Amino acid sequence: MGGHPRTFQFHACFVGIFFFIHLLHFSTVVEASNNGGFSVKLIRKKLARTTTPYCRRLMDSSKVVQSTSNAYLGHYLMELSIGTPPKTIYGIADTGSDLIWTQCVPCHNCYKQLNPMFDPQQSSTYTNISCESEACHILDTTTLCSSSSSFSAHNDQCNYTYAYASASITQGVLAHEKFTFTSTMGQPISLEGVVFGCGHSNSGDFNDHEMGIIGLGKGPASLISQMGSSFGSKRFSQCLVPFNTDIDVYSKLSFGNGSEVLGEGVVSTPLVTKADDTTPYFVTLLGITVGNTYLPFSNTSSGTVAKGNMFIDSGTPPTILPQDLYDRVVSQMRNQIALRPIEDDHDLGSQLCYRTETIVGGPMIIAHFEGADVQLTQTQIFVPPKDGVQCLGFTNTSSDGGIYGNFAQSNYLIGFDLDRQIVSFKPTDCTKQ
Ligand SMILES: *[C@@H]1O[C@H](CO)[C@@H](O)[C@H](O)[C@H]1NC(C)=O
Ligand SMILES: *[C@@H]1O[C@H](CO)[C@@H](O)[C@H](O)[C@H]1NC(C)=O
Ligand SMILES: *[C@@H]1O[C@H](CO)[C@@H](O)[C@H](O)[C@H]1NC(C)=O
Ligand SMILES: *[C@@H]1O[C@H](CO)[C@@H](O)[C@H](O)[C@H]1NC(C)=O
Ligand SMILES: *[C@@H]1O[C@H](CO)[C@@H](O)[C@H](O)[C@H]1NC(C)=O
Repeated sequence: MGGHPRTFQFHACFVGIFFFIHLLHFSTVVEASNNGGFSVKLIRKKLARTTTPYCRRLMDSSKVVQSTSNAYLGHYLMELSIGTPPKTIYGIADTGSDLIWTQCVPCHNCYKQLNPMFDPQQSSTYTNISCESEACHILDTTTLCSSSSSFSAHNDQCNYTYAYASASITQGVLAHEKFTFTSTMGQPISLEGVVFGCGHSNSGDFNDHEMGIIGLGKGPASLISQMGSSFGSKRFSQCLVPFNTDIDVYSKLSFGNGSEVLGEGVVSTPLVTKADDTTPYFVTLLGITVGNTYLPFSNTSSGTVAKGNMFIDSGTPPTILPQDLYDRVVSQMRNQIALRPIEDDHDLGSQLCYRTETIVGGPMIIAHFEGADVQLTQTQIFVPPKDGVQCLGFTNTSSDGGIYGNFAQSNYLIGFDLDRQIVSFKPTDCTKQ
């Protein structure tokens, strides 16, 4: 994957590391709204348990923050139903990976989830994908469909393994199923024959509301790729509420017609295609302005940056920058903020954090994407990992590429247009939609 996800040293994102599917049948739309497009709500849920160590956000890899009050609020969950009769699942909306999967009965090695797991036996629309079928055949068949005849009972199913940079992993079988979404207008939208992973062995750092992951990446297995242009042009947009928003306020994800990002203040940047990694939405970050100081992405005298040096990931909370750029950003922030950084709280690791009941009052940040300057204010820059503490929502990596995380994406309507190959940003109060 472009080299970087494998080397990332953080417990954050849902970046697919490897994947075996290349060819899929496009699913068919059963019902849709008038103009084709529709929107769904993205919700957030707190962990039901109260004492689990939490290590997904903000911290460097060696630290595990014990604070749970805000745990998992950095994930946006999509509600959808699968099967006939339909069963509700909640999956993490993730633009950094492709596979759509949920925990399935029988679950040999699964993490705890509160709602019942999906049981393929109970659904009349579930169909296994066989090794011989095109959807599986294009895969690495030696991996997926062993020729060992002693396992003939299992040999015909299309086994998959899909892993993430966070060390989460799902294993199971690929299947076709009917998916139903509830649009914000109230009507059901159905898609038949969606290829998804019925995960019979899943592990990772999930909370008990999270029943799987909805891959929204650019690769062929993702939800947006399987939808194709069924709902209008091949595009979607998201408007994520800031981390600190009341949990009952929802975010929005829109598909197809009606998901265009239009009007005053819209800026756009080209998507960068990489042959060896078709999943992420790669864009080019030229530099970052902190207050009045411009920091080029690359500190070399030539000033050239590699195209596609960042990708936009709704499944990763912090923005992750290469060490050198991160150090320069942090140093500018420290210089320009009047408060004293917290030095004595081991939970916080090496993050830049301040003790304040209100806002840090630091400088504005501008992310200079190629052709698109995106301004970040306090709510997108600082997040409270615990009461009375605000930390910079950025972290570092030893890789030379980075990730534009969902803290920074909040309060922007962000459009991913796969036909026009651009990502657009429009400042928007996502709590009022
Ligand atoms: C999407 O909108 C365009 C233009 O308004 C229209 O021509 C097209 O039929 C719509 N697509 C669908 C799937 O309804
Ligand atoms: C497929 O996975 C099942 C468990 O889900 C396993 O029993 C079987 O051996 C696997 N088949 C192959 C060919 O790897
Ligand atoms: C799917 O494949 C598994 C393993 O071969 C089998 O147990 C199950 O009955 C199949 N399900 C359907 C609906 O065909
Ligand atoms: C430029 O960045 C590299 C690492 O990317 C670092 O080793 C070097 O010290 C930096 N140079 C300056 C002048 O900051
Ligand atoms: C991130 O930076 C801190 C110091 O600011 C350093 O201790 C840590 O090793 C870095 N992590 C990575 C993954 O480079």
